[in-house]
Amino acid sequence: MLNNIMNKTKNIETEAVRLYLVETAKKLAEIAESKEEARLNLVETAKKLAEIAESKEEARLNLVETAKKLAEIAESKEEARHNLVETAKKLAEIASETKFNLYESREKYAIIFDQSPIAIEYFNERGELVSVNKACIDLFGVVDRNDVVGSKLFDDPNISSVIKTKLAAKETVRFESPFDFSKVKKANLYQTTKSGTLYLDWSITPLMLNREILGYIEQIQDITERVKREEKAKELDRLKDMFLTTSSHELRSPLVPIVAQAQMLLDNAYGVLKQNQRDAVDMIIRNAKTLSNLTSDTLDIALIRSNQLKLIFEKVSFGNLVTEVINNYKIQAQEKNIEILLDPLLVEPHISVDKLRICQVMNNLLSNALKFTNENGKVEVRVIRGDTEIVVKVKDTGIGISPHQQSELFTPFFQIDGELNRKYPGTGLGLSITKGIIEGHGGRIWLESKGLGKGTMVSFSIPIIN
Ligand SMILES: Nc1ncnc2c1ncn2[C@@H]1O[C@H](COP(=O)(O)OP(=O)(O)O)[C@@H](O)[C@H]1O
Ligand SMILES: [Mg+2]
Repeated sequence: MLNNIMNKTKNIETEAVRLYLVETAKKLAEIAESKEEARLNLVETAKKLAEIAESKEEARLNLVETAKKLAEIAESKEEARHNLVETAKKLAEIASETKFNLYESREKYAIIFDQSPIAIEYFNERGELVSVNKACIDLFGVVDRNDVVGSKLFDDPNISSVIKTKLAAKETVRFESPFDFSKVKKANLYQTTKSGTLYLDWSITPLMLNREILGYIEQIQDITERVKREEKAKELDRLKDMFLTTSSHELRSPLVPIVAQAQMLLDNAYGVLKQNQRDAVDMIIRNAKTLSNLTSDTLDIALIRSNQLKLIFEKVSFGNLVTEVINNYKIQAQEKNIEILLDPLLVEPHISVDKLRICQVMNNLLSNALKFTNENGKVEVRVIRGDTEIVVKVKDTGIGISPHQQSELFTPFFQIDGELNRKYPGTGLGLSITKGIIEGHGGRIWLESKGLGKGTMVSFSIPIIN
């Protein structure tokens, strides 16, 4: 188009037209150019639009993502809300349950307090009675609960002043004592349906907070039945001891002439006996002596148990006394080839003892040592003089005693392996009597053994009284 216009200008002679045309051409060129620009703009725009379109896709995707996220958030918020509701419900439940529990536990304690079989009294810091439970009302035969409330712990005539002093010093006290209803009536403390005396086990505890007394809890148990049973048992025991004392006395007396007469038979006082007759009389004497020993041991035990063992004190040379007893066992020891020693050989000191009873003690300990020691063993007696007491130790290399049985050996009739056909003869009374005699002298007795087969050592002490 531009070339056509240029050609036409050659045919047109007027300068004005030519200029106009040039102008127009220029403008057209401009337009053309601007059109190019527009085209380019268009391309740009298209590009941009494409870009936008792309970015819009992205945006759309973003939007979708965001929407999804929003949905998620919305959902999670729903969940959170739901959780919150659940939590709230649970909290409400817990709250009401706690309240119920609190109420219930308060009720429970009230029930425990009131239904406890132990009588309980609660006093305030001034010792004035605040509350009592049902067991307490029953125990004291209270007619009107209000009657006892306010009564003063420190005015109770059935509580001794020693106990009251301890309570005032904030001490917990536990004691057993009789409760006399006539004192309640005399002091006009409260109306009661009861009378006579009860035996009660009391426990009074001051309740403390920062060294201040908040109040007192008193717990009382009725032990009347137990005390009566114990008194009855004591009475029965006394009767048994009396029976033992008299019967052993009576049994022993006829044995003396039996042994004496049998001995005369053996001594041919009534004519010469044949060997089988001697054997028979021998057996009579042996068994009569066993019976005599048993009855005198039983009598001793009965006397010791009833505190009737009478000791006759005299001043003796303790060393001589021990030496004499040991000499009596020399032959018996030789028969088992047991070495018997006294270390050291004391003549002094002279002390006050019941000579016969101390000989009995030494006899019991030495006969045990020789009885429970096998052939070729050793028995050693040591006498140790201290400032205030004499200690005697009888030590053997015999069968020993296992630790768990050592404490029982001083119980009457106790024998290790105490069967009828046991290997070692005896009554199981020797050590109990020995203990009674030693304690009657104000001394102690004890036993040591490292166990079975490891020998035994029995020791006793006697205070030196000048
Ligand atoms: N020296 C000892 N060695 C081992 N056991 C002993 C010894 N002394 C006492 N016993 C044990 O203690 C028991 C009680 O002793 P005891 O009272 O003298 O009674 P008994 O000698 O009549 O059996 C004995 O039966 C014995 O089992
Ligand atoms: Mg014995």
